[in-house]
Amino acid sequence: MEKGKKKSVTVIDNQTGKKFEFFIKNGSSGPSVVDFSNFYSKTGMFTYDPGYTSTASCQSAITFIDGEKGKLLHRGYSIEDLANNSDYPEVCYLLLNGELPDENQKIKFREILTNHTMLHEQILRFYSGFRRDSHPMAIMVGIVGALSSFYSEKNYDFSSIEGQWVAVSRLLAKMPTIAAIAYKYSLGQPFIYPKNELNYSENFLHMLFSTPCGEYHPSKARVEAMDKLLILHADHEQNASTSTVKMAGSSGANPFACVAAGVASLWGPAHGGANESVIRMLYEIEKEENIKEYINKAKDKQDPFRLMGFGHRVYKNHDPRANVLRKYCYSLLEEIDSVNFPLLKLATKLEDVALNDRYFISKKLYPNVDFYSGIILKALGLPESMFTVIFTVARTVGWISQWKEVNEIHTNKISRPRQLYIGKDERAFPKLKERNKKSKKKMFPGTVLGRLFQT
Ligand code: SDX
Repeated sequence: MEKGKKKSVTVIDNQTGKKFEFFIKNGSSGPSVVDFSNFYSKTGMFTYDPGYTSTASCQSAITFIDGEKGKLLHRGYSIEDLANNSDYPEVCYLLLNGELPDENQKIKFREILTNHTMLHEQILRFYSGFRRDSHPMAIMVGIVGALSSFYSEKNYDFSSIEGQWVAVSRLLAKMPTIAAIAYKYSLGQPFIYPKNELNYSENFLHMLFSTPCGEYHPSKARVEAMDKLLILHADHEQNASTSTVKMAGSSGANPFACVAAGVASLWGPAHGGANESVIRMLYEIEKEENIKEYINKAKDKQDPFRLMGFGHRVYKNHDPRANVLRKYCYSLLEEIDSVNFPLLKLATKLEDVALNDRYFISKKLYPNVDFYSGIILKALGLPESMFTVIFTVARTVGWISQWKEVNEIHTNKISRPRQLYIGKDERAFPKLKERNKKSKKKMFPGTVLGRLFQT
């Protein structure tokens, strides 16, 4: 390549022989990208990448993942260093500001998070509109979305730095309160207000487990376990829920409504809902002698069963978060809840069998962050239905940091993907009489709807 010439790739259309040049952009680490933003205007064709397996949707300086090496960095710091030396508010500050806080910044940031933990009393009335047996994630979607009516464009300019910090501080401060109330509502217990003298994770556990009849004083081990879980789930590059928040934000939508969309996306079992599915799967496997049967089910293409907590779109080596969690699992269960040891022992055995199975090795399927998190959450005394809610609390900082990063670049374009159209060509509109003659084909054949429509 000639010196000084920008690096590029050339695409040749073999039908016409036409050549199209596209420039390469290099990041500070990881794969370079080919800038295809003008691919359509140059070639008249779209690029095609359903599921975005090879597509970079943006540039970002917040999180870097090396899937081959099993590496995860937040603003350059490894997840292992952060999990072992930091606390969740510090990691929030780092994700949002790009640097770890000094003593004063840490105190100031903690004040901000502490002084906005309460919810508007009218928000509390929204909870009673939900069925008592609602999944707590349904409540999270509803309540977080409702915050957009209390923090609206009428009173805040979310395109300004001040407006963005209102969204950031209120979401980070209130998410544990919203989550704890969702849990209390599901139990039929009174809501517990936050206490300013407690730190972030202590306050969260207090609101989850205290009652008017008795204060809950979590042990150091429990507070530390919650704090590590929050750190390990804080952000993860352009995952499905973060991309959902940013897609919604690209239209200039209210940030609280955008985060509600992210909550909805995280709820799915292929994403943040996997931690709940892992525990249910372990209960179903029940004992070590059943492991082989379930490994075979996971490999059977005819069987929809997948080994929950295994596999990842990016990690084709260990998920570093799973390694940290496994370590905490052992120390935590020793300290607080050996009754769950059989579950942990079964999980460790399942991991061992899977990691030595040719199929899992060939597909590069390793335990991901969800494989061990459920065991810790269970040991903390939470039901499976609350597992993704805890993930939601943790990931709020990732969503809002990435939303803020995009909004700082004021040339943020609306995200509007195109498609490969495979439908009907244009055709004449048939009169009703013609349709009666023609419609021999059963509508929705063999379905309830089909029977409803068939005369
Ligand atoms: C999270 O993106 C993120 O960063 C997400 C996350 C975050 O922090 O935000 O890390 C959090 O969502 C972790 C993932 C939690 N989900 C699960 O544990 C559910 C089980 N895992 C799978 O559903 C799956 O591995 C995904 C969804 C996680 C990844 O799916 P991909 O990248 O689309 O991969 P794929 O489905 O195309 O699988 C590749 C192959 C397939 O076989 P072939 O069609 O090539 O023959 O591997 C197989 C899959 O059938 N496979 C599995 C499997 N996962 C993939 N087979 C059995 N068990 C599994 N768990």
